[in-house]
Amino acid sequence: MKNFSHQVVYQIYPKSFRDSDGDGVGDLRGVTEKLDYIRDLGADWIWLTPFFPSPQRDNGYDVADYCGVDPRFGTMEDAEELLREAEKRGIGLMLDMVFNHTSTAHEWFRRALRGEKKYRDYYIFRDGPADRPPTNWQSKFGGSAWEYVPALGQWYLHLFDVTQADLNWDNPAVREELKNVIRFWKDKGVRAFRFDVVNLISKPDIFRDDPAGDGRSFYTDGPRVHEYLQELARDTGLDEAVTVGEMSSTSLEHCVRYTRPENRELSMSFSFHHLKIDYKGGDKWQLQPPDLSRLRELFCTWQEGMLAGGGWNALFWCNHDQPRVVSRLGDDTRYWKESAKMLALCVHLMRGTPYVYQGEELGMTNAYFDSISRYRDVESINYYRILTEKGLPAAEVMKVLAARSRDNSRTPMQWDDGPCAGFSAGKPWIDVPSRRPGANAAAEEKDPSSILHFYRRLIRLRKEMPVVARGDIRFILPDVPGLIAYERRLNDETLTVLCNFTAEPLRVPREGAPSCLLDSYETPPSFDGEALTLRPYEGTAGMTRE
Ligand code: GLC
Repeated sequence: MKNFSHQVVYQIYPKSFRDSDGDGVGDLRGVTEKLDYIRDLGADWIWLTPFFPSPQRDNGYDVADYCGVDPRFGTMEDAEELLREAEKRGIGLMLDMVFNHTSTAHEWFRRALRGEKKYRDYYIFRDGPADRPPTNWQSKFGGSAWEYVPALGQWYLHLFDVTQADLNWDNPAVREELKNVIRFWKDKGVRAFRFDVVNLISKPDIFRDDPAGDGRSFYTDGPRVHEYLQELARDTGLDEAVTVGEMSSTSLEHCVRYTRPENRELSMSFSFHHLKIDYKGGDKWQLQPPDLSRLRELFCTWQEGMLAGGGWNALFWCNHDQPRVVSRLGDDTRYWKESAKMLALCVHLMRGTPYVYQGEELGMTNAYFDSISRYRDVESINYYRILTEKGLPAAEVMKVLAARSRDNSRTPMQWDDGPCAGFSAGKPWIDVPSRRPGANAAAEEKDPSSILHFYRRLIRLRKEMPVVARGDIRFILPDVPGLIAYERRLNDETLTVLCNFTAEPLRVPREGAPSCLLDSYETPPSFDGEALTLRPYEGTAGMTRE
């Protein structure tokens, strides 16, 4: 049985990581150039977001060929070289399999449009009059989830952009094609896979209007999803690989089923409930301050629930779809360093597999773009239009985007304090935002108290301390507002983690002060015999042995 409980994954968005040829777009050779940096961080795997041929309507999540390399990112030889060079450093690649949909530029879809029945059955086409979509479902990027094709007199389903057509997993030929994609990359030596929005692949037999919502209740964790995942894993030998499924609006019960080793579906799952605590009324486009007690409750439910059910969580704050966490839940000005470290400590010491998103380990902040022309993301641009059409003043819309846009995480990686942050010698495809002095890899390398060094320590701890990798978890101190606290236990060891999510000092009643292992400040918190006092955004971890 593979063991990944001590491992850590580093996520790279190649387009924004390192541009080796000066065209303004990051590429695979750029990743190869920076492998020593990732080795020094201590990561075991690199998850690369899609670099396959694609029209890039959704930055590569609109795949036109699953077994190729988009010339923007390099060649197949570059991919093979990256694989080899990573392996030399003990790092594996995790490839991103976007199997819920293909780009409409994919050969399969083009043949479907040309009227080939075989390929029409690869997608979800439905009859219907040109003025009425088959259901009222909404695309996750705004607007109807159906698009009419006049030449065919039919509609096709796209849960995301209109150029991302949903595949018909009920067709066994589709499942075979996708298995061949896995086999292709496995033959090249890839041993880890991420599956994009994989809990949406199984659609209901009958398509009906959703009177209450946008349709998601019909296809989320759909009727045959577990069966299809088991089949995929069994037929492509995924038991030997590390796999993670991205789960949209999922439930704990389903995630236990997806990830219990005996079910042979996936190694672990991403869920997103903890990243909706600042969505007003559950709506991403309405701002509210983070609900910290809800955050605590969600961590508690998912951590304790996955432990009890025998499942395994992917642990993360940041990815290419999320704003930067230090701007979101920390304080990216006054307590920049302390809060970035506290947030790291909080998730890295939980039970599961931590994911670090490029630049998070440097404390990179949101972009704070001041004009819509600086945004590149299709979702942000769509919502700019939707929200202004709804009558929200442009300045308000810009505030919402500044907090929520996916471009916050897609700005160039900050390697140094040069003009393009050391990302490119050309003009980057997306602006480098105004930067905090010292928030770059070169400066942080030299500073032992940097956020970068803190991440290295956390990653090392997981490898050195079995209690971090394998310990149980129990949440404690529910009644201290603004505090998230838990205990990990293995044999006679207890690791206690206390995190102050507020800008105020916090008194935490304790019988004693555990010996401090790691702290987001340079010194441990003070203890007066009855309570510890945590400083603003302080995170601290301590050990006790019975
Ligand atoms: C996932 C990806 C996101 C993409 C979407 C559609 O949520 O992380 O970037 O837009 O799926 O593929």
